[in-house]
Amino acid sequence: MTPPMPPTPPPTPLRPATVAVTAGRPPHDPDNALNVPLTMASTYVAGGDVEYGRYGNPTWTAFEDALGALEGGRCLAFSSGLAVVATVLELVGQGRKVVAPRHAYNGSVMQLADLEARGRITVELVDIEDTAAVVTACSDAALVWLESPTNPALEVADLAPVIAAGHEAGAYVVVDNTFATPLLQQPLALGADLVVHSATKFIAGHSDVLLGALATKDDELYDVLRKRRELTGAVPGTFEAWLALRGLRTLHVRLDRAQGNAQELVRRLGDHPAVGEVRYPGFGAIVSIVLAQGELAADLLTRKTTLWVHATSLGGVESTFERRRRWKSEPATIPDALVRMSVGIEDVDDLWDDLAGALDDLTGEPSTTTTSESGVLGGP
Ligand SMILES: Cc1ncc(COP(=O)(O)O)c(C=O)c1O
Repeated sequence: MTPPMPPTPPPTPLRPATVAVTAGRPPHDPDNALNVPLTMASTYVAGGDVEYGRYGNPTWTAFEDALGALEGGRCLAFSSGLAVVATVLELVGQGRKVVAPRHAYNGSVMQLADLEARGRITVELVDIEDTAAVVTACSDAALVWLESPTNPALEVADLAPVIAAGHEAGAYVVVDNTFATPLLQQPLALGADLVVHSATKFIAGHSDVLLGALATKDDELYDVLRKRRELTGAVPGTFEAWLALRGLRTLHVRLDRAQGNAQELVRRLGDHPAVGEVRYPGFGAIVSIVLAQGELAADLLTRKTTLWVHATSLGGVESTFERRRRWKSEPATIPDALVRMSVGIEDVDDLWDDLAGALDDLTGEPSTTTTSESGVLGGP
């Protein structure tokens, strides 16, 4: 008698670097372009599945397939990260409560405040690192908004117990995964209902695109949010989706390099007398420092470098930094002298020489300039 055949092992799932490079590509048929073309179309020949440019676009779909594969869910792209935030907050019923980090991205906090001021929802802002307090706040929530690490305080939430507490209350649990990216944190695998991205940042990665995205494993939620995107028209630009997909192809390489640079800079910054505090969650490419000599020193620093660019936003290949409290909307609990640094993929020694030179100047020089303040509402 022939022995029974061993069961066929399940296929090994592709690793994230391979997914980033391969997901969302056209099939390997002769003469197919390797990359999904840029389909510029406001309308399609009638009688098919799409019909109109607000309902779908093959270039968006390719981006969504790739990011969805990395997050472990189905993805929808939007015109910006804040368009995603607005769409998701529409899930909350009239008068119901949202729990959110007091130090979440200030644009998200401003949207919550605006909805609360208009009587749409109530909001409880929490210290996201105080898990017990967050769990208590979740008990009557309709939606729990998490951002981890937070922008720019770099606080980290203990996601699993907070997600469980949100679900216990019957709430949606949403995680803004912009800082970690799906390569460092996969909230859907931890049970979150939705992941939100400002794809403007690390996903696109080159400071040339505004784009948002969400991902979910829940088909019903996907359909509801897709419908809302159709209704509001908060759709992505086609070229933006194409550029973001091109950026996504190298996310793992960029992040690896930027994170390595960040870790090395954290090590060196800790010893510099001009730096009072270094905040770094241990992963990722964003570092916040608090200048020992206060906010004027922080402002001076951002004007003294040649490689580091004084600019808001983050997650690009180039290193940028800014004093966050120059934005009126940044809460007073963020230190005045906090400089958020988005570490890029340049040579770390060049980055350090530029930064250390400026920091050395600060310690030898009294800070006399006035502080800068931006007139614009909130900085990304
Ligand atoms: C964590 C986080 N979420 C959301 C947003 C908003 O994204 P966008 O600028 O693409 O609208 C930002 C922007 O800085 C962010 O940092």
